Amino acid sequence: MRIAMIGTGYVGLVSGVCFSDFGHDVVCVDKDPRKIAMLEGGAVPIYEPGLDALMAKNVEAGRLSFTTDLAAAVDGAEAVFIAVGTPTRRGDGHADLTYVMAAAEEVARALTGYAVIVTKSTVPVGTNRKVKQAVARANPSAEFDVASNPEFLREGAAIDDFMKPDRVVVGVQTERAGEVMAEIYRPLFLREFPIVTTDLESAEMIKYAANAFLATKITFINEIAALCERVGADVKEVSKGIGLDGRIGNKFLHAGPGYGGSCFPKDTSALARIGQEHAVPQSIVETVIRVNDVVKHRMIEKLRDLCDGTFNGKTIAVLGVTFKPNTDDMRDAPSLTIVPALVGGGAKVRVVDPQGRREGEALLPGVAWLDDPYKAAQNADLVVILTEWNEFRALDLKKLAKKMAVPRMADLRNVYSPRDAKRAGFEAYDGIGRPMMQQPKPADQATG
Ligand SMILES: NC(=O)c1ccc[n+]([C@@H]2O[C@H](COP(=O)([O-])OP(=O)(O)OC[C@H]3O[C@@H](n4cnc5c(N)ncnc54)[C@H](O)[C@@H]3O)[C@@H](O)[C@H]2O)c1
Repeated sequence: MRIAMIGTGYVGLVSGVCFSDFGHDVVCVDKDPRKIAMLEGGAVPIYEPGLDALMAKNVEAGRLSFTTDLAAAVDGAEAVFIAVGTPTRRGDGHADLTYVMAAAEEVARALTGYAVIVTKSTVPVGTNRKVKQAVARANPSAEFDVASNPEFLREGAAIDDFMKPDRVVVGVQTERAGEVMAEIYRPLFLREFPIVTTDLESAEMIKYAANAFLATKITFINEIAALCERVGADVKEVSKGIGLDGRIGNKFLHAGPGYGGSCFPKDTSALARIGQEHAVPQSIVETVIRVNDVVKHRMIEKLRDLCDGTFNGKTIAVLGVTFKPNTDDMRDAPSLTIVPALVGGGAKVRVVDPQGRREGEALLPGVAWLDDPYKAAQNADLVVILTEWNEFRALDLKKLAKKMAVPRMADLRNVYSPRDAKRAGFEAYDGIGRPMMQQPKPADQATG
């Protein structure tokens, strides 16, 4: 198959590289000339484990190339994927479809023969029909079908997710489009990964429902965690105890500082708007959005408590600022709420993140970037684990505590335990949803 992939961000680039690895001929297009120049030079503009090697292999094999020339890429393609961004529209929470519709019109004008125009971007129900109308309007003689093929890959594990998906969802209107899509995903079909072939609207809805459900699961456990802290329960034990129930499942039950990232915040917001517009309010999703915000702000109070009520004059080391490990993506990361509150409160903030600096520098003004957690902890009053990169999972806690002016830790990912922290000499340790560890101060001991 000849495939054009419009948009080479996290989804477009991974999809293009993986399709070429299936054996298809893929041309990846982006309107950002810097991105294309990097890709043509063999460099990957994002951090995604394994992507560089797979990309190099397929470029070498002559199945994968990059261009800014959309018309040249679309010429002769049997399938054109649209994988451009659908961020939250300013002001109203809707998905901004400007990039999708602009790409669709450009594709329409470039079509030279029958092609399936496939929307991979996450788009509200009804968008594929709008794409169809827009293409027909821009090029009335175009021979084409549309298909909806939402993507479920997770950043940080994107290649594995694409190559071994839980399922592939394809929404089509015609048999011909269904056949093209089946041919594209044949390698997965042969290995018996489930392919759900359905109508356009259901495919579009599946993506939003899936993300809203996962965001709900995370938010549920985060709210239970807050209650655990009050009643003396340990949320890690609770997650384990409920997750072993096959009807519940153990994934997405890790309590933390609130969900973030490039998808959940914008997709829950878009689904809430779609519900309101159709007079079917999605009250659960609306509540999840509100509670997630409360969770993020609760983290700030947790940190303030560990700093004796004020950030002013304190030195705080923050380990991890990307929205999760193994990505450089900072979109809607909890750090973007938490770190500015520390800086605004008068703290001196040092940040360590294995990949976050390139994007993070502009987003987190007023912090110092360091490479080494122990240097960041030197004379600090508090260490905060905000993203559970492997680099922060096996710290020498004794060494860390020794470096600090006041050895206190906020472990917002529950990487360590109160016992670990106490043994290492930390004076205070607070995780999520478990009893806080605070050693009595010498003065307290003296008075009994
Ligand atoms: N990032 C994820 O983990 C993820 C997972 C599943 C689904 N999605 C969805 O996939 C879509 C893309 O997300 P992303 O994170 O890859 O976005 P991104 O912002 O990383 O990439 C989008 C790319 O499209 C390019 N672009 C925009 N308009 C273009 C045009 N007309 N022609 C050529 N290139 C154009 C931009 O320059 C950019 O490089 C979104 O709808 C998102 O919701 C993302």
